[in-house]
Amino acid sequence: MNMTIKMSRRLGLAVAVVAAFATTMSVSAREPYTAAELKSMEDKLTASVQRGYDLWYGARADMANNGLACANCHPDTAATNPQTFPKFLPQFNKVVPFREMVNWCIQNPQGGKALDLASEDLTALEAYSFYLHRGVKIDTGLVTRQTAGPQVTTARGFAGKSTGIGFDK
Ligand code: HEC
Repeated sequence: MNMTIKMSRRLGLAVAVVAAFATTMSVSAREPYTAAELKSMEDKLTASVQRGYDLWYGARADMANNGLACANCHPDTAATNPQTFPKFLPQFNKVVPFREMVNWCIQNPQGGKALDLASEDLTALEAYSFYLHRGVKIDTGLVTRQTAGPQVTTARGFAGKSTGIGFDK
């Protein structure tokens, strides 16, 4: 087979693929979401936020080896600053997304097992913190703009005592 035929075959295939795609697109252009569909999506988000809340308050034993949970140091997601991520963090020496910092806290102050970065539970922890920060202006930044470490003043159901790691006072 010579080059020209090969090329034109490929071109023909490409045209066919594009045409097929365009046809599907126009046929499947969807109606606006129905109220029931929107409710179902909202329910799924709420379930993820709820799961995040449960995890935040200690639902998974493997996330700590010292009885601590996120809520001990970050009650109501205090000082987690999701609006500042991704940002440069010195302990990683690179720019990291929120979820990597969550794993850092699971492994260091909590002495637990890091979550799979693609897991639904990690997404749920994000969902909970981001949900409580709705409307806060996104302000990704450097560590110099980081807020102070969390002050541990309340703890619901856990010993209100930190491990002393980080700059917790
Ligand atoms: C014993 C206290 C303690 C516990 C428990 C803890 N953290 Fe932290 N967390 C800290 C401290 C201290 C820092 C600041 C560390 C630093 O930046 O070096 C921090 C920082 C963070 C940050 C980054 C905040 C910012 O502005 O950069 C996030 C996000 C976070 N924690 C999430 C969590 C989550 C989610 C959990 C539960 C899985 C958790 N933490 C458990 C003490 C804790």
